[in-house]
Amino acid sequence: MSGIFYADEANIKRAAMIIKAGGLVAFPTETVYGLGADAFNARAVAAIFEAKGRPTFNPLISHIAEPEQLSEYAVADERALFLAKKFWPGPLTFVLPRKDENPALDLVCAGLKTMTLRCPNHPVALELIRRAGVPIAAPSANRSQTLSPTTAAAVFDSLGDAPDMILDGGACQVGVESTIVDLTTSQAVILRAGGITKEDLEETLGETVLISDGNPNKPTSPGQLLKHYAPSKKLRINATSALTGELFIGFGADYSWAPMNLSLTGDLREAAAHLFQYLREADANDAYTGLAMAPIPNCGLGLAINDRIRRASR
Ligand code: TXA
Ligand code: MG
Repeated sequence: MSGIFYADEANIKRAAMIIKAGGLVAFPTETVYGLGADAFNARAVAAIFEAKGRPTFNPLISHIAEPEQLSEYAVADERALFLAKKFWPGPLTFVLPRKDENPALDLVCAGLKTMTLRCPNHPVALELIRRAGVPIAAPSANRSQTLSPTTAAAVFDSLGDAPDMILDGGACQVGVESTIVDLTTSQAVILRAGGITKEDLEETLGETVLISDGNPNKPTSPGQLLKHYAPSKKLRINATSALTGELFIGFGADYSWAPMNLSLTGDLREAAAHLFQYLREADANDAYTGLAMAPIPNCGLGLAINDRIRRASR
């Protein structure tokens, strides 16, 4: 099943079943349409990156329906609780220390110890999240490097049949993406400007809020400021055998001898789903002093996998 469906109760119910079953649903929020999957299902999250053709694994925003759930997934300090009380549901996204160390969340958090959360102000989005019963990971529902869609038709133009279902809830009211504020530092930093302004945040918090502004210490775009996950052990890539002390991480049937294998069948989606979790486990394994990884084909999701392990191998 795929295509555009009017967001009535029956179709929202079907969409929630699709999310629970590991599928992809594009849905309206008050800002832009999101391409959603169960945040706890790493394979489904990998399918989001595949559908978007994103050449990198960025952390995704997890959408929740109840503001109180913030503290379930993140270490929410007074600032976060205060801002959530004032602006949620709404176009404000928090980056906070991650609370749930569940490895199933590793891909949605891109291996980082932070979690990015938002409670959207749209009845269809809220109903979908509630019915699915899980946080819904969702970037904007467009191919990488293209405009964020504000109608169901625009989602279809960009992603075609990649979502199992596109829920049509009309045009988005806000039309620009949410404000992203990093609350992992003592002074809050706006990583992406949006409908909630610096002044709105400062007035609520009673303190100065920084904007990342092109200064190398305070870069402009979320991607630039983004800290990337890296293992503490040295990682050798494009390896075909293990050197002394190395834990070898294979890919495909040629490496069935390896103690770890991202996907024995050579399935890139499975490999993406395992990547951060396996790196984390391998890094923590005291029996080895280094890591080596088999070559990953440089196509489809392999682009994002290679981007990440290249950075991690430096
Ligand atoms: O309005 C919105 O925020 C929409 C709707 C669907 O909710 N979502 C959205 O998601 O715009 P996305 O993935 O297209 O943009 C989120 C941006 C990405 O550039 C990502 O790299 C950045 O936020 N981001 C997410 N978590 C981050 C983190 N922990 N640190 C820095 N940047 C982060
Ligand atoms: Mg986007």
